[in-house]
Amino acid sequence: MNDPSTRYRIGPGFQLEVFETYEGMSRKAMEIVSGLVRSKPDSLLCLPTGNTPTRTYELLAIDRNEDPALYDRVRILKLDEWAGLSANDEGSCESYLQKHVLVPLGVDEGRYFGFDGNAPDLEAECRRVTGLLDKIGPIDLCLLGIGVNGHLGLNEPAEVLSDTAHVVELSETSRGHAMIASVKDRPRRGLTLGMGDILRARKIVLLISGKEKRIILRRLLETGVTTMLPASFLRLHPDVTALCDRSASGPHVRGNDVGTM
Ligand code: GLP
Repeated sequence: MNDPSTRYRIGPGFQLEVFETYEGMSRKAMEIVSGLVRSKPDSLLCLPTGNTPTRTYELLAIDRNEDPALYDRVRILKLDEWAGLSANDEGSCESYLQKHVLVPLGVDEGRYFGFDGNAPDLEAECRRVTGLLDKIGPIDLCLLGIGVNGHLGLNEPAEVLSDTAHVVELSETSRGHAMIASVKDRPRRGLTLGMGDILRARKIVLLISGKEKRIILRRLLETGVTTMLPASFLRLHPDVTALCDRSASGPHVRGNDVGTM
């Protein structure tokens, strides 16, 4: 399907590409991931969960069908996890990644890294992930979704943001996420890579889809860098591509310093 996009310059290293459809946005994200893996087969991909990236992952699985060995060396790092949930819990990020990425792309245990949301000592678990990232990093490509409150991973709007992996108190907005809607004891905390971990990635692709993201996308385009909008820190990174669909952008992309490319 042909979905021509319009590209905008948000900042020196930050561009926004608007697609008419979710499918077009997802296809572009898939092409970026696939292209990177073709040029660097053992790329470390940091991947989010949620509704937004699901079609991208389906398209990656189709890509693998066409080139079965393509993802044989790729390494996957989980961006975040709900505290208290494990692979057996349907709402966990772990079970989402198993279903949508690890199984379809044939990623074995030795090439998958991430938080155990059920670890007995969550702070120690975050320290373990920080140590791990020191060894396996840097992240080659960090794919991100955005929370309706502007969070990245589970880095919630706050006065102070954390550099490395840490435990967070979830905002009520995040606790309302569809992934955990049917979990009996809805998590109050989460584990997430820190803003520094994300910003140290060589390349970042941010996916924004759906009309419920329209307000936060507008804020992202209009505000400077502020801890109250963690996604605004992406302005500081040299290589960020935000991909969105028309339902998220609305009919016109407006912002303080947005220009068509
Ligand atoms: C959750 C996830 C994030 C994700 C965000 C957006 O909080 N932990 O990693 O990016 O929500 O989710 P969605 O794409 O469903 O809107």
